[in-house]
Amino acid sequence: MPAFTATAPAKIILFGEHAVVYGRPAIAVPIAALQARAIVRADVRASHGAVRLIAPAIGLDTQMDELAADHPLRRAVAITAETLHADYIPACQITIQSNIPVAAGMGSGAAVSVALIRALAAYLGHPLPAEKVSALAYEVEKIHHGNPSGVDNTVIALERAVYFVRGQLPRLISIELPFQLIIADSGIASPTAQVVSDVRAAWQKNRSDFEELFDRIANIVENARTLFEKSGKDEELTDYLTKLGGWMNENQILLAKLGVSCPELELLIERARFAGAYGAKLSGGGRGGNIIALVDEERQAAVIRALQEAGAQRVIATTIGGIG
Ligand code: MEV
Repeated sequence: MPAFTATAPAKIILFGEHAVVYGRPAIAVPIAALQARAIVRADVRASHGAVRLIAPAIGLDTQMDELAADHPLRRAVAITAETLHADYIPACQITIQSNIPVAAGMGSGAAVSVALIRALAAYLGHPLPAEKVSALAYEVEKIHHGNPSGVDNTVIALERAVYFVRGQLPRLISIELPFQLIIADSGIASPTAQVVSDVRAAWQKNRSDFEELFDRIANIVENARTLFEKSGKDEELTDYLTKLGGWMNENQILLAKLGVSCPELELLIERARFAGAYGAKLSGGGRGGNIIALVDEERQAAVIRALQEAGAQRVIATTIGGIG
């Protein structure tokens, strides 16, 4: 029996996390070096309609109907079948693999959902378009965290850089002039749901200050979008990196004011800047997870070393943009 395999990348938010929950824009990019994978295989020996879910990384190996109805994997399977009007799913085994760190701001939950929905839809004979996969993954995101903006499932399903505003069609952006990012994991697991809900509580107490912070973040996002869209290959690289790095630093100050940074992230950010990064900020929900640092060829090695010495658990160098 053939296996139906699908993958989905991790993601990084360049600018705009948290404010995006409140209707402001964000810019996010896929990170193909880290991926979730779902493999669906027909199981001819299993009884009619039996779906076995296997996720070795979390020690899961169970029949789907033994999971709670709101378990994200069960929900992803159920809504895919519902959408395709599949009254039952021919008996199968679904294996999930992922090297995306969990609770680290890189969209691991959304990537697993997207890979699973894609592979299952193909198994059921109806591959789904990216927009539909994104919409279904959004429904699963609501279980992961109560009030998701939708940016994670969107960038992960579309696998392109996006300028995203909640409730609007995402706008694909092309980053003509590529740049190098270092992604460094603090090793602190920080579930996005908790941080998003803490920001909400703080916003409820002090709406005007928080709205102003969100507006300032939105301003940075708009500046970055304009720069990405207007920069050609001839743009002076140093100028471009200096602008982007400055906005990353500004965005970080505003995120800290929202209360989503923490000493460990601040340390990594400070060390990256000290080692020559043009700018650095947390990415994703914060209070743990990853920071991103903007470098060029010359500064890359020093920044990676500084982050490793500062205790980062995993450091990845990646290039953003340049291929449309
Ligand atoms: C999480 O990757 C990004 C947040 O803005 C939450 C969301 O957009 O749903 C923190």
